[in-house]
Amino acid sequence: MLRADKLCKAFGALQVTRDVSLDIPQGARHAIIGPNGAGKTTLFNLLAGELAPDAGAILIDDRDITHLPPNRRARLGLSRSFQKNNLFPRQSVQDNLLLADIAARGYGYRFWPRLAARKDAYGKAATIAGQIGLIDDMQRGVAELSYGAQRQLEVGLALMAEPKVLLLDEPTSGMSPEETGRMLRLIDDLPRSLTVVMIEHDMDLVFNHADRITVLNYGEVLMEGQPEEVRGSDAVQETYLGGEAE
Ligand SMILES: Nc1ncnc2c1ncn2[C@@H]1O[C@H](COP(=O)(O)OP(=O)(O)O)[C@@H](O)[C@H]1O
Ligand SMILES: [Mg+2]
Repeated sequence: MLRADKLCKAFGALQVTRDVSLDIPQGARHAIIGPNGAGKTTLFNLLAGELAPDAGAILIDDRDITHLPPNRRARLGLSRSFQKNNLFPRQSVQDNLLLADIAARGYGYRFWPRLAARKDAYGKAATIAGQIGLIDDMQRGVAELSYGAQRQLEVGLALMAEPKVLLLDEPTSGMSPEETGRMLRLIDDLPRSLTVVMIEHDMDLVFNHADRITVLNYGEVLMEGQPEEVRGSDAVQETYLGGEAE
């Protein structure tokens, strides 16, 4: 469903992505882990098209998207949630979801009044509000929501594009343990047809939620495997213990 083939990216003299390859089947729950600065977000920026790779290729569903802009990739089924806040705080949950629907269709917000009247958009917003656990908060203003609920809504915005592949960059960052648990359950409960790729820097968090893990270190794939293989790897232990000692 999503393939990366020997992606490379440098910022000046700093080689941030080195020959990174991924091959992620439909329905996977794939985690990308690694210490801070390992190049995880840069990899997502390459996959989503916010950055152009220096070398390598990206394919979604066997289609080469390496040179397509982000909005074209989104329409081919690649959707991401951002670590930075992407919400309209003074609008309701429902309006934020409807606006995401409009953005995903590429119409621009000036069509908002006409498109907001579409029944199917309301139905879709309600379905997704259910998936992200915010069905009872549809009419609440986003600014009134807890931090955790706002992050849940960000996942909802990405889902409004009806992606095949959902990229989540540290969906639990800054959350309390309770909020983290809620977010991970939400991700577990997403439809199995959806392919989910999740960045997480706390590797313990993803062990029970990923079926495969890629470990990045200094922009390189240190290892890829099932959670038990990764946990048992000396190289991975060293990388993380080294990071914690710092
Ligand atoms: N736009 C940029 N220009 C220059 N350096 C960058 C840029 N984006 C990221 N970096 C650097 O690339 C490295 C990897 O960053 P990043 O991909 O954000 O890592 P991670 O998400 O794993 O913490 C870091 O050293 C970071 O400072
Ligand atoms: Mg990051």
